[in-house]
Amino acid sequence: PPVSLIGVPTDIGAGDRGARMGPEALRLAGLGEALAARGVDVADRGNLAGPDNPWLPPRDGYRHLDEVVAWNRLAMDAIHAELKLGRLPIMLGGDHCLGIGSITAVARHCRETGKNLRVLWLDAHADFNTHEVTPSGNIHGMPVACLCGIGPDALTNLGGSAPAISPSQVRQIGIRSVDEGEKRLVKEHRIDVYDMRYIDEVGMKRAMEQALHGVDADTHLHVSFDVDFLDPSIAPGVGTTVPGGPGYREAQLVMEMIADSGRMGSLDIVELNPALDHRNGTAMLAVDLVESLFGKSTLMRD
Ligand code: ARG
Ligand code: MN
Ligand code: MN
Ligand code: MN
Repeated sequence: PPVSLIGVPTDIGAGDRGARMGPEALRLAGLGEALAARGVDVADRGNLAGPDNPWLPPRDGYRHLDEVVAWNRLAMDAIHAELKLGRLPIMLGGDHCLGIGSITAVARHCRETGKNLRVLWLDAHADFNTHEVTPSGNIHGMPVACLCGIGPDALTNLGGSAPAISPSQVRQIGIRSVDEGEKRLVKEHRIDVYDMRYIDEVGMKRAMEQALHGVDADTHLHVSFDVDFLDPSIAPGVGTTVPGGPGYREAQLVMEMIADSGRMGSLDIVELNPALDHRNGTAMLAVDLVESLFGKSTLMRD
């Protein structure tokens, strides 16, 4: 399908400022041109405009809740409009709190079209905190919980029917940093987590086969790609680095296996922080990996 790029330039849910520059860094790294070169029909819708980041401390366990809600409403509406046009939206974040708006839009679209939704959450973090257990108050650590109905009303009910998704629709890959209280919640809600220990033991190929199991012609696959999924040695341009992530080949394999499924219907690229990057290298790596998501392969056999 044709692709729409939607820039959502905010770091409203993050603990470091800079992810607001993510959309421009991805454009400069040639995202649009790379997709066009693969024969993809791509339209850049430009950037959404939302509230400034007031950079305040948390209140009641949330930083910037009202502004997070505002940005997520904007993202949800923009992404839903693209899906309705039959297009594949790529959200250029922005921090990962925006996954609430983007996936709420996708879930609504799936209800409207009778598709099954599968969410692949590529991340170092489970992002399943609540205002009670969060160590930071940063809402980019809470989107999966909010989508599953755990969180403030304004976020869990963003699309008017909470919860947006069920934990059974989520597969998390690359996880290696989960806070203590968060861990309890992830287990309680039975999120299907392929953490780095599991990936070390069984290998990325088998982990991905399991994460994609059951994805069929009636499935809409949403990929939420937090750039901190990648090992910081290859992807330093993120706020919350965690050592021990997938390296280049492993990450390519993930993207190529998603492409092989043929079912990706929407994508988030989030948490890229150009202020922390070296010569835009992390953005260029993200573009390289997105090319693989769209079918570029190093395979000789076909
Ligand atoms: N677990 C930490 C927190 O809640 C870090 C979350 C990082 N999330 C992210 N999307 N980068 O503060
Ligand atoms: Mn994340
Ligand atoms: Mn993360
Ligand atoms: Mn509460």
